[in-house]
Amino acid sequence: MPVSVAVACANFALCKYWGKSDPDRNLPAVPSLSMTVDALRTRTNVELLEGQGEDRIVIDGRPATGEAARRVTVHLDRLGRIAGVRPRMAVTSDSTFAAAAGLASSASAFAALTAAAARAVGLDLGADALSDLARQASASAARSVHGGFVELPAAPSGTDFLAAHPVPVASGLELGMSILITSESPKSVGSRDGMTRTAATSPYHEAWVRQAPAELVSARAALASGDLGELGAVMERSALRMHASAMAADPGLLYWNAATVEAIHAVRRLREGGVEAYFTVDAGPNVKVLHRRVDSERVRAALGAVAGVLRIIEAGVGQGVEVA
Ligand code: DP6
Repeated sequence: MPVSVAVACANFALCKYWGKSDPDRNLPAVPSLSMTVDALRTRTNVELLEGQGEDRIVIDGRPATGEAARRVTVHLDRLGRIAGVRPRMAVTSDSTFAAAAGLASSASAFAALTAAAARAVGLDLGADALSDLARQASASAARSVHGGFVELPAAPSGTDFLAAHPVPVASGLELGMSILITSESPKSVGSRDGMTRTAATSPYHEAWVRQAPAELVSARAALASGDLGELGAVMERSALRMHASAMAADPGLLYWNAATVEAIHAVRRLREGGVEAYFTVDAGPNVKVLHRRVDSERVRAALGAVAGVLRIIEAGVGQGVEVA
């Protein structure tokens, strides 16, 4: 049987998605805006298996079990319903980075899986349909279908179709992202459970959802006009507000470690020293820093020295998903 192969890059949100309007359809309650990053990639092979039996799923060299395997199988069922056939499949997925440590593994993984499995069953989907389908598995994966800077709108409960789309960036604004690794252990509470708990118990969740649309409009405008200062300000507010709301959940969600806090202070000091650098943090302790590409060396020199930063991955703007 021929093997279908797809490669997708991870993405990091400058305006965060945190909260669902419809958990069954996996629709976001807030709009998000991300940068696709070239340094973190997932490559997924899908081969149709003869006869019945089970899907064979291998993630980063190990047979997948439990929730990870279930999410893949459910997604293949979803794809099978569209294709009108549901053959069993052998899925092999390899990422260039640690899964589940707040490094957006589900984004690149589900974007690549959607594209490879669609090809394997003979579905010829355009970018919108691929993004909508990937979103149903993991909303951030909808954004990894595209390269560059990408927006995933919010949608009211019951919406049937929701895809991400690329957004324009000012020519001449050459951005990079430095990813500060402070831990590669899996997080104790995944994004999905974390955002569910936040929505159910945080007194700040409603305010978070209310303020997000205007913030996204500002970020989009800043990106289009090349105003890195404004983009960075929105980006840091989004991260801090998301985490403030999560910390106020019950029990409180604290994704940061000591190095996360040290790194945030160091980014602010770097800025005082004249380097335009801005942080964001996802559902894990690693810190991602947005800056001009030309400042990569200064960022590395300053932030590589922060106590608890194990290493730095430098990323540029990545491409959308590619089917080989
Ligand atoms: C903090 O896309 O992993 O990274 O839709 O439930 O799979 P599900 O959630 P997921 O959440 C990502 C949360 C985040 C912020 C972001 O990427 O926008």
